[in-house]
Amino acid sequence: MLRHNHGKGEMMSKLAVKGGTPVRDVKSNPWPQWPVWDEREEKALLEVLRSGVWSYNGPKERQFNDAFARFIGTDYALSAANGTITLQLALEACGVGYGDEVIVPGLTWQATAAAAVDINAVPILVDVTEDTWCLDPTKVAEAVTPRTKAIIPVHLYGSFVDMDALMPIAERHGLWVIEDCAHKHGGQWKDKKAGSIGHIGSFSFQLSKLMTAGEGGALTTSNPQLWEKLDALRNCGRRPEDDSDADKGAGVYGDEGNFIQSGNYRITDFQAALLVEALERLPEQNKNRDENAMYFNAQLAEIPGVLPVRRDERETAEAYFNFAFRYHQGEFKGLPIEAFRAALAAELGCGVEGSYEPLNACPLYTPPTKPWRHKLTDDYFARIDPKRFDLPVCTRVYREESVCLHHNVLMGTRADMDLMLEAIRKIHDNADALM
Ligand SMILES: Cc1ncc(COP(=O)(O)O)c(C=O)c1O
Repeated sequence: MLRHNHGKGEMMSKLAVKGGTPVRDVKSNPWPQWPVWDEREEKALLEVLRSGVWSYNGPKERQFNDAFARFIGTDYALSAANGTITLQLALEACGVGYGDEVIVPGLTWQATAAAAVDINAVPILVDVTEDTWCLDPTKVAEAVTPRTKAIIPVHLYGSFVDMDALMPIAERHGLWVIEDCAHKHGGQWKDKKAGSIGHIGSFSFQLSKLMTAGEGGALTTSNPQLWEKLDALRNCGRRPEDDSDADKGAGVYGDEGNFIQSGNYRITDFQAALLVEALERLPEQNKNRDENAMYFNAQLAEIPGVLPVRRDERETAEAYFNFAFRYHQGEFKGLPIEAFRAALAAELGCGVEGSYEPLNACPLYTPPTKPWRHKLTDDYFARIDPKRFDLPVCTRVYREESVCLHHNVLMGTRADMDLMLEAIRKIHDNADALM
């Protein structure tokens, strides 16, 4: 009996990545599923199917736009095809174009910078702060030049850009601020939701995001001129709410002579139907994730070598897309972070990743591959070369510090958090076995 217990104990302390028993048995105890749906979504989709109004300012799209604007606290919201095109259209609506500089963080999904390249502007990659991993306003101030036209702060990793510091810099220099809220649906800075602080908010509804319709995006603003332009830009250059005669040339934005050219970036009413439901579910889901994250982070601080990403006290509601924490190899007997992530993934039976690769090294962000390259000057290509930017904090976060989990791990109970903490302790106590 004693020998049997001893054997079991050994299996429990033996790391799963080495063949031991994982802390979480995902067969009997699976993680909460993402995306979330039930009869509500089925009913809403059937309603659209049977109505025959599958797109083009359908009732669900209007309902969603109104509800999303109310939720974010802006006068307007507009749905669009995805959270990449929303960034591009936002820049266009602000009049940003060829050669203009757009400040973006070095640590973000490549779309934030690619949106600027796609309109022949120049992304200026700026480093992040050590403890929030979000755009550093001090470094933004240093990066402003006479060519700067816009800043795209990105709120991510359970943290927020210090908007109290950023907005005065933008005002001082007359710059547009487009908040990339692809990770922050419902997050709040003081009394304002992400997407209502800058001039335009940009959201993604891609499958893994906090609200999803498979694909999709939205733009928020309280500026009527920007709204009008944005609506035309997402809808072939047509004037908002007046496209019934569009095929005959009527209802075109700027028919006083200031026409706008654009493509079709609308969503379908099927997507809007899913988004109406997703928005209703979001506050409760965010609350659950936040309570779990707060509990987890408080306990995490007790384990040597791991630390929560800093949450500013001005963040009054948190929204987690990537749930991240900081790792210090020295406290884990020198265990490289890749080995730690792999060990944690094996213990928990879920994906464990690092942060985004800094944009000055990201192979997906390769501006000179665009087909129009032969039309542009060498000087332009020198200016958009991401390698010219020095991003030491982004690089350290990516190479040494970041451990990121998908937000679905926060959608269960405290017992799930306890298992995550147990897995980290187990790796800490048995790091020798991986060296
Ligand atoms: C920070 C950020 N911005 C923009 C996007 C683009 O969104 P989409 O995938 O909907 O085009 C993403 C998507 O992953 C993102 O993470």
